[in-house]
Amino acid sequence: MLIHQRNVLPILLVLYLLMSFDGVQGEIKLSKLEELSLEKQLKLLNKPAVKTIKTTWGDTYDCVDFYKQPAFDHPLLKNHNFHPEMKPTLSTIKQTPSNSTIDISRTWIEKNGCPSGTVPIRRVTKDDLIRQRRMPSREDFIFEAPLDDTNIILEERGVNTRAIVKTPDDSRNKFAGAGMVASLWNPSVEGAQNSACRLKIQKGPDSMQAGWRVDPTLYGDNKTRLFIHFQAGDRQCFDILCPGFVLINSEIVLNIAHENVALQGAPHNREITLYIVRDLTNGNWWLLYGENQDKVGFWPRDLFTSLQNDFVENVEWGGVTYTPPNSSNPPMGSGFFPEFPDPSRYAYCRGLVLLNDKGETINAEKTLIFLDNQSLYKVLDRPYYGTGKFPHYVFYGGPNVPKEKLM
Ligand SMILES: *[C@@H]1O[C@H](CO)[C@@H](O)[C@H](O)[C@H]1NC(C)=O
Ligand SMILES: *[C@@H]1O[C@H](CO)[C@@H](O)[C@H](O)[C@H]1NC(C)=O
Ligand SMILES: *[C@@H]1O[C@H](CO)[C@@H](O)[C@H](O)[C@H]1NC(C)=O
Ligand SMILES: *[C@@H]1O[C@H](CO)[C@@H](O)[C@H](O)[C@H]1NC(C)=O
Repeated sequence: MLIHQRNVLPILLVLYLLMSFDGVQGEIKLSKLEELSLEKQLKLLNKPAVKTIKTTWGDTYDCVDFYKQPAFDHPLLKNHNFHPEMKPTLSTIKQTPSNSTIDISRTWIEKNGCPSGTVPIRRVTKDDLIRQRRMPSREDFIFEAPLDDTNIILEERGVNTRAIVKTPDDSRNKFAGAGMVASLWNPSVEGAQNSACRLKIQKGPDSMQAGWRVDPTLYGDNKTRLFIHFQAGDRQCFDILCPGFVLINSEIVLNIAHENVALQGAPHNREITLYIVRDLTNGNWWLLYGENQDKVGFWPRDLFTSLQNDFVENVEWGGVTYTPPNSSNPPMGSGFFPEFPDPSRYAYCRGLVLLNDKGETINAEKTLIFLDNQSLYKVLDRPYYGTGKFPHYVFYGGPNVPKEKLM
């Protein structure tokens, strides 16, 4: 038994409807059948732990043997020859220095981290699964099969709103990856809202994302967490909630909750550095984290169709929020419209770089602003604001009410 979006979706739907019609908010009574299905799913997701680590922010991580990690439940990865010492072949990625934060180190070093040959995986609880089954439609969410009653779903579907810059559309674009340094914020979201900042690379139906997000439905709290997302054709999920991303680093932790992140309005000095880059020899897509470009893991090229043998066509940097039906719009970034360049006041992505088809780092010079809703969030694109070789800053964000109401 494998957990695939395609198999799980109808079950999720039925469960979702059952749960939403039982009328009790927050106190969901599950039938025997549902309980069994949840238990089964938990068994598949939580692999046997060699060691268990509790973080200061309340998560439990299991150190799982490299070869037993969820990625290898993917049918296309059954006969893989991956191993824990894998390293990508990359040209040197040049970048500007950053105030990267690796909050994990304190907890991790105190507890001696995960043993080599294992990878840290956030343990999934029954509450996580129940919450995630109520997860609204996501950006780029694609329903594979026609649904029995599309109207019900549509009524519950909220709105994703982006405030980003992107590379100009051109089918001749061939990027071997992209990167950014992003300021960390903790926009206050409520209910099923979420608010994120991310780098996204895409070609055709395949995409990969990395960034930070505040997402109580996904994580059960309102902390600012590192996240990844991938979509390969009609299969998509956050983090490693479906098989795909191969973790390789026993020290870097996906979904790390960044502590001491600035609240709305306070000056900040925390940043994260993220890259998604293509292995020049075999075409796997690697996630690099932090100033030292530590290798977190990779999406094997075999997962994809368009990105299996080809390069990225579109790249986006910036913010995205989710507004549930009948809800206000959550704040994005620092919660302010960027009116003028000010890195201490406005959320930003900087050091925007692209990798060309030879893997060489180039300044992402030409970008276009893209706003889903001009009255909700704004973008200020400043390709030469910073110093050094990669001076590109994008300021983005907005408050939790439409601008009209502020004036
Ligand atoms: C890093 O943080 C320090 C102290 O908070 C600040 O003075 C410096 O300008 C920051 N550097 C960058 C590149 O943001
Ligand atoms: C996050 O949640 C906690 C507890 O639910 C609450 O006390 C805190 O104010 C929230 N923070 C934000 C930024 O929403
Ligand atoms: C949203 O509000 C409308 C009108 O008040 C109502 O008919 C609908 O049921 C609400 N939807 C949700 C998901 O609460
Ligand atoms: C933008 O958001 C406002 C407030 O939610 C809404 O009234 C308006 O219809 C939206 N505009 C577009 C083009 O979606």
